[in-house]
Amino acid sequence: MAAPMRVRTTFSIFRRVSSQFGSWNRNYCSDVTKKGIIVGVYSKEDDKEEGFVFTKAAEEVNDRASGRLQELLNIAGPTVKQGKAKILYDVNQDFSSVAVVGLGKQSAGYNNVEQVNEAKENIRAAIAAGATQLRESGAKHISVDPCSDAQAAAEGASLALFSYDELKDESKRKPLVELDILGNTEKSAKEQWARGMTLASSQNFARTLMEMPANRLTPRRFAEITGEQLRITKTIVTRAHTQQWAMEKNMGGFLSVAKGSDQPPIFLEMTYNGTDPAVKPLILIGKGVTFDSGGISIKPAQNMDAMRADMGGAAVVAGAMDAIATLQLPINVVALTPLCENLLNGSANKPGDVVKAMNGKTIQIDNTDAEGRVLLADALCYACTEFEPRAVIDLATLTGAVDVALGSAATGTFSTSETLWSDLHQAGVETGDRLWRLPLYKHYTSQVTESHLADVNNVGKHPRSAGSCTGAAFLKEFVTVPEWAHLDIAGVMENKDEIPYLVKGMTGRPLRTLVEFVARMANQS
Ligand code: BES
Ligand code: MG
Ligand code: ZN
Repeated sequence: MAAPMRVRTTFSIFRRVSSQFGSWNRNYCSDVTKKGIIVGVYSKEDDKEEGFVFTKAAEEVNDRASGRLQELLNIAGPTVKQGKAKILYDVNQDFSSVAVVGLGKQSAGYNNVEQVNEAKENIRAAIAAGATQLRESGAKHISVDPCSDAQAAAEGASLALFSYDELKDESKRKPLVELDILGNTEKSAKEQWARGMTLASSQNFARTLMEMPANRLTPRRFAEITGEQLRITKTIVTRAHTQQWAMEKNMGGFLSVAKGSDQPPIFLEMTYNGTDPAVKPLILIGKGVTFDSGGISIKPAQNMDAMRADMGGAAVVAGAMDAIATLQLPINVVALTPLCENLLNGSANKPGDVVKAMNGKTIQIDNTDAEGRVLLADALCYACTEFEPRAVIDLATLTGAVDVALGSAATGTFSTSETLWSDLHQAGVETGDRLWRLPLYKHYTSQVTESHLADVNNVGKHPRSAGSCTGAAFLKEFVTVPEWAHLDIAGVMENKDEIPYLVKGMTGRPLRTLVEFVARMANQS
């Protein structure tokens, strides 16, 4: 069996869990009673037929146990439903429990209607079910069948075991589990496994930041924690720009949102050079509102706690940088996250106030709850003028309207570039964390540029119509490069029960899609 790798179920900040093979050997779990394995079975191609087909690894386990896996499974009932797990005990002396998980049909692949690679999604969901059930039954070390895609298997296991419970009493926390790949697999499968572990770990980092309560994750703490995390990769330089710096840059939009709070704002800049520094960088921007009360246009009390995750864009971008550096992708990337709170003290923005963005455009703030676009305006100006970007992509929990439109099925995506859109979309097909395109028509632009007092208004003329599109149209007014995409991630911010391999809570979506996109872009150049 391959060397085990420890995975955190609780993301412990300041301590990176290695995603390289051979590490953590000293922690190897020698207690057989706490060892579990996950093996996959496919269902028969003919729906009417009962029974299953073993994966290669399941076949090997069955052989080693002289057919006992098959026997026990026949007793338990010979079908394992897709995405479900059956736990078997006493299969072999090497481990205490086996989760047999249903992978669905072996013929699964790209589904044109779903616009997703279903083979990979099926693996993630099935392995996730096995991992959580084995942990429930006391397993401390789980070896995972790579199925036909070790990366998807690693992602399913590691994402499913995440739990943000560091603020709870120890007795209430989910136990830590070690994960590794099952069997004597080839080098390529081990590399895929390690890649999946890296991506899941970075996404779990983003989830941790999003879950953290706003009193503990202020702009300053966000910058500190992210700085510590990214320092581990040794290849990212982080700079936490101050309020003074933002004033010198004339970031009147960002500063206007921040001044309603006692917490000073921070404009965090993260630079990764994976190739010749002369090569134009990709710029990633993440909305970093560590709490959004709505300001004077205050939000209703119900579910307002979820607004601790209004820095989801910043978290995903920071987590993506972590993965990009760990994978040593040959590309230059700069991440920009304007961090502040949207609160309401005596200096807060008032409806009707007019502020001036970095590019000189004036913004009439008719609704202080549409704050994301006001601070992103400055970040977009900075990205377009300070660098010579090959592309700019912003991620933001920008509008409740995108949740109305798409729910949590896909990230609403706007782009001025066909190729950028197509590449982003393709990446989502592979990761299962999908993107869906929405329009950037002039129709919407006119609704935000006809402002009574200023150049633009931060809300559309018809506030009940196409809120995500007018939000995107507003941002477009501050973009001066041809290759731009805006990802409205408000609808995918939180998981109730829709994504089987993500537990309830903040998701860190669409981190894996973003990193997949960056990896492909890196290979193009
Ligand atoms: N952070 C919110 C958007 C949001 C809503 C994110 C739900 C996640 C879940 C954003 O700042 C906001 O309040 N947007 C307003 C815009 C409106 C005033 C034009 C909204 O969606 O209501
Ligand atoms: Mg708001
Ligand atoms: Zn917001």
